[in-house]
Amino acid sequence: MAMSGVVRSSVRLRPTWSTWTSVTGNIPRNFNQNRAIPEGICGIRAIASHSSNNMIFRQLFDRESCTYTYLLADEASKDAVLIDPVIELAKRDAQLVEELGLKLKYVMNTHVHADHITGSGLLKKLVPGSQSLISVASKAMADVKVNPGEKVTFGCHELEVRSTPGHTNGCITYVCHEQRTAFTGDALLIRGCGRTDFQEGSSEKLYDSVHSEILSLPDDYILYPAHDYKGQTATTVREEKQYNPRLTKTKDEFVDIMANLGLAYPKKIDVSLPANLVCGLYNLPDDLAAELE
Ligand SMILES: [Fe+2]
Repeated sequence: MAMSGVVRSSVRLRPTWSTWTSVTGNIPRNFNQNRAIPEGICGIRAIASHSSNNMIFRQLFDRESCTYTYLLADEASKDAVLIDPVIELAKRDAQLVEELGLKLKYVMNTHVHADHITGSGLLKKLVPGSQSLISVASKAMADVKVNPGEKVTFGCHELEVRSTPGHTNGCITYVCHEQRTAFTGDALLIRGCGRTDFQEGSSEKLYDSVHSEILSLPDDYILYPAHDYKGQTATTVREEKQYNPRLTKTKDEFVDIMANLGLAYPKKIDVSLPANLVCGLYNLPDDLAAELE
């Protein structure tokens, strides 16, 4: 994925682009895969930077809910978007936006979360001019609502909105073709997927939408989920088609697996859903509501 700047590695080997393909699942376009990587730029970040097309990328983490928040920005115009912010860390995100000199355009969600309250509402206050964004199908309140096929643009970059229901009815995946990446929310997790037993969940829908809208992307596309509970940060279409223990099964087997997960009731769902349906602006616990006053 795109990074701003080149991080040099201490690795002394001189691999080829093919070598990196096996590490990153991605290579820059228009490169001879058998050509050696120039000395001094040996590192995943080097490749990401080379193919970045001037996009700044940060993957941020919330330790409590294991949520990933993504900051994407156009280096030239400074226009930026945040995907899936967490309210308790909205100040961290706003500070980073300020320190990088960015203009936050959209505070976006992949879906109405059940495990944490979105930071959209608080970020709108902390970064005046930013707008909340979510899918029409989510039935949530937001400044901007998007439908499948629409594009979210910032600077010279764009994210294609794809409908990936099943975890919730309103789940969407944001695909950045120029970077060969996708932000999958809870539809597809690394070697897993979101649960389907509440919020209008449907195992059948999830199986179909993940296969048709995410796993149909080219094998080298890097996938960034909304959560990871084991310390992984990203995966690829190729990996998930090969190793996902649920989605490599038949649809009937998948439905059976999802029906027998025996998961506990999400501990924050009762406070998260009412707040997230209004993009974290209202229906907040008292301590968080005070932040918005
Ligand atoms: Fe979720």
